[in-house]
Amino acid sequence: MGNQNIVWHQASVTREQRQQLKGHKSAVLWFTGLSGSGKSTIANAVELKLNQLSVHSYLLDGDNVRHGLNQDLGFSDEDRIENIRRIGEVAKLFVDSGSLVLTAFISPFISDREQVRALLPESEFIEVFVDTPIETCELRDPKGLYKKARTGEIKHFTGITSDYEAPLTPEIHLNTAQHSIEQSAEQVIEYLREHAYV
Ligand code: ADX
Repeated sequence: MGNQNIVWHQASVTREQRQQLKGHKSAVLWFTGLSGSGKSTIANAVELKLNQLSVHSYLLDGDNVRHGLNQDLGFSDEDRIENIRRIGEVAKLFVDSGSLVLTAFISPFISDREQVRALLPESEFIEVFVDTPIETCELRDPKGLYKKARTGEIKHFTGITSDYEAPLTPEIHLNTAQHSIEQSAEQVIEYLREHAYV
């Protein structure tokens, strides 16, 4: 809860001025999907393309952020909510700095994602649903975590023993069963072009 003795200090340089300097809009591309769905891989491919287009970007990735800023958090519902709240605030700061931010977190709950959306001006939160059937994620199992979840070695595993609430109306819906990583990344870039972000 906010401290009443802390007053917001208005910055002299506005986000519009920063965006103008960078030559493109800033926003969050919020990737959501199951573990192993391809969030990080596709977000990395998108970031590479953005970099080649001279867009200032930054990728916040679940596994990496959990090594630092959020190393005190686990995978209970409560901790996941706090994980996403903090990432939302960090993403907002990056957007304010004029960057195109990409986030790759499972972010399993609709209400948490909507709270992050509410932190930002309209159109600056772009929800990207990495839609990969759980059977496919489990077959891939790149980190061997589904196997551990099935044997009970890992508790509260998303899709097995913890919920995943798919987005109902994401701005971008990536159907990874039908498209390659390259095609999915291109779909995101197309969206950004069509809506004049870049
Ligand atoms: S979130 O639910 O809070 O958004 P986040 O994206 O930060 O999750 O972290 C998910 C990553 O942590 C997974 O890709 C996986 O590598 C690892 N992980 C470890 N334990 C779990 C678990 N119980 N459920 C889901 N992912 C887990």
